[in-house]
Amino acid sequence: MVALNGRDLLSLADLSSTELQELLQLATQLKSQKLKLQSNKVLGLLFSKASTRTRVSFTVAMYQLGGQVIDLNPNVTQVSRGEPVQDTARVLDRYLDVLAIRTFAQQELETFANYAKIPVINALTDAEHPCQVLADLMTIQECFGSLNGLTLTYVGDGNNVANSLMLGCALAGMNVRIATPEGYEPDPKIVEQARSLANNQTEVLLTHDPELAAKEAAVLYTDVWASMGQEAEADDRLPIFQAYQISEQLLSLADPQAIVLHCLPAHRGEEITEAVIEGSQSRVWDQAENRMHAQKALLASILGAQ
Ligand code: CP
Ligand code: NVA
Repeated sequence: MVALNGRDLLSLADLSSTELQELLQLATQLKSQKLKLQSNKVLGLLFSKASTRTRVSFTVAMYQLGGQVIDLNPNVTQVSRGEPVQDTARVLDRYLDVLAIRTFAQQELETFANYAKIPVINALTDAEHPCQVLADLMTIQECFGSLNGLTLTYVGDGNNVANSLMLGCALAGMNVRIATPEGYEPDPKIVEQARSLANNQTEVLLTHDPELAAKEAAVLYTDVWASMGQEAEADDRLPIFQAYQISEQLLSLADPQAIVLHCLPAHRGEEITEAVIEGSQSRVWDQAENRMHAQKALLASILGAQ
């Protein structure tokens, strides 16, 4: 079994290609097989942003592994009253076995990981959403049998999900095309990192042309036009992003066997149409289910299972 013993997962780039492949294989196995942790372990969830899927899938995954979960809502801990991250991290380290954090700045997550000796998992930051992309790649592998050489096209905002998709696709040997409006491109440092991981073997393409990006793609992917923390900009973004919607017309340009993914929650009529999300090529519910299997594999591999 893939051994990430005691390691952090702050970015998808923390995994090698082999580790990623092994994790996806374990996740697929865990869809039908039971696995238990070697000893009773406790996962803390410290989420400063809303969450349905990540919170529930981590909780159920940990219960099914025989572990326990504490939901550390910042509003009922001293975190919301300004206790320094360095102090919170060193205290939680003494109680918990693993900590999943959802927050704003990647830097805050990194500070947590520096001060806590226990493994820290990125459950979404403004920069990345690695657990989401583990489930996305698992879903694509289920649909197509393998990942190598496939093309994934992401249309919309160059956000945390887009950043992690670039890294995940590069590690998995997939081509990735990111189509955004001008000024909404993904993080240039992560683009560079993804290109270096792709090592000229696969394409990491940025474009402002969604139709060009969608042509013959195996996977069309989108996410909200305004992420958590950007609510104040949401209305101003609507006209800028109009052309970046996954519609039946855009989907008709992709490979006829293409699948459509969305990390959810979705805004029907904005980044995706009702017809596409509810259509025959949509795999969004399998994708959401796979969050649980992928995170179970991650926890088992970090904590040790038998
Ligand atoms: N996709 C995702 O992370 O969903 P939640 O925000 O509901 O956890
Ligand atoms: N980009 C979105 C993803 C939500 C799962 C956000 O950060 O709000």
